[in-house]
Amino acid sequence: MILEVMRVAKRQIKLSRMVNPHFFPMWRTNKPYIIAKGGRGSFKSSVISLKLVTMMKQWTQLNKRVNIIAIRENASYLHDSVYNQIMWALNMLDLNTEFNYFKSPLRIVHKRTGSTFYFYGGDDPMKLKSNIVDNVIAVWYEEAANFKSYDVFDQANPTFIRQKPSFLDHVTVFYSYNPPKNPYDWINEWISQQEADPDCFVDTSTYLDDKWGFTTDQQLRMIERYKQNDPDYYRWLYLGEVVGLGTNIYNMELFKSLKELPGDDYITNVYYAVDTGHEVSATTCGAYGLTKKGNLILLDTYYYSPQGKSHKKPPSELSRDLKQFIDKITDWLNMEPTKMTIDSVEGALDNQFYNDYGVHWHKVAKLKKVDMIDRVQDLLAQGRFYYLKKPSNEIFIEEHRKYQWDEKTLESADPKVIKVDDHTCDQLQYLVHDNERDLGLRY
Ligand SMILES: Nc1ncnc2c1ncn2[C@@H]1O[C@H](COP(=O)(O)OP(=O)(O)OP(=O)(O)O)[C@@H](O)[C@H]1O
Ligand SMILES: [Mg+2]
Repeated sequence: MILEVMRVAKRQIKLSRMVNPHFFPMWRTNKPYIIAKGGRGSFKSSVISLKLVTMMKQWTQLNKRVNIIAIRENASYLHDSVYNQIMWALNMLDLNTEFNYFKSPLRIVHKRTGSTFYFYGGDDPMKLKSNIVDNVIAVWYEEAANFKSYDVFDQANPTFIRQKPSFLDHVTVFYSYNPPKNPYDWINEWISQQEADPDCFVDTSTYLDDKWGFTTDQQLRMIERYKQNDPDYYRWLYLGEVVGLGTNIYNMELFKSLKELPGDDYITNVYYAVDTGHEVSATTCGAYGLTKKGNLILLDTYYYSPQGKSHKKPPSELSRDLKQFIDKITDWLNMEPTKMTIDSVEGALDNQFYNDYGVHWHKVAKLKKVDMIDRVQDLLAQGRFYYLKKPSNEIFIEEHRKYQWDEKTLESADPKVIKVDDHTCDQLQYLVHDNERDLGLRY
């Protein structure tokens, strides 16, 4: 009981201890547009949520009914991000019992005044535009880089700004995001315009701005791992720098060879991924083992190229090849496949395989190429990728070594790769994306 009181008392007086001093100017600015960009874990979301809750508190104490709107690019992310983040801030400020929490539609309502936090998806701009919530005091675009373009802001902001209460001189619009690597990504171009706008306050933060020591030792060790393995990736992910994409996609030093399976670690799961081709392009399947220590090991590669062959294998033969390949690994390790992933546009081979063996492959939901590749780069940058050194895996290493961005598309928002001999590169991307939870990736 006494402890509880102390805890409350301590919290009430220490807002300045919940926000790192780096953010004090951003906290105090009276500008209508506030942009917090920076590296991962740099407290952007925490600070903005605390600020929004504080703004709400100021008005509810004066018995005003005010509203705040938080937006993410896709409605399905709202609950686990902004909604939870606002709940976190209400808890931090010991205001949680003053509110009711609703799931459908998502909203958090102040019991006494009816003041409300609303949560919207940016994937429905019409809904944003026709929003009829009045007395809006603030809007927050969380993970702003993930929106399709600044069109969403340009279309929605005028609506919210119109709903300003008479007792305020402006609605405050917050944006938070981690800058993409690609300098030609729309948000990296958009930010230069915002920086020149006197109505706009732009803050850049990193995890190093942590005077109050919120970052745990475990997080710091993880960050150090990225820094040691892949300094460029670290500069992008944790320092928030726009490092560019380079021409070579992968740093080959991060593909570490193994003569045999490690003696001090063991495989917990086996995954497969296929990239298919019929007329001219190759069909390849990778077998990968995830270890107890969290490393991913390329165990073996199946590769069939129909190029220059007069008799090209039909799906029935490829299906049999894949089955044999999988059976060989299954027998060797005495482990059934955890997941088998295939290109989302592939139909014929999957149907054939299902017909032959009664098993469907899982179709990967593809993303933009930069995002597919980023997941692989992330795993690599943590020093967690290995391959067994054997002849069947040579093609995998060869293709990854040659894998390049197409220079002609580099100065665009959606760069493309050079699409020759990239089949093993594709299957690795499918594998990593389809199993990103098992692999402990952050997406
Ligand atoms: N006042 C605080 N007390 C305790 N922990 C805090 C506080 N403020 C922030 N943190 C913690 O710091 C970590 C990073 O903060 P936050 O998620 O806000 O960073 P971010 O910049 O939004 O990161 P990302 O780029 O990943 O979105 C979180 O785990 C958060 O819980
Ligand atoms: Mg965040």
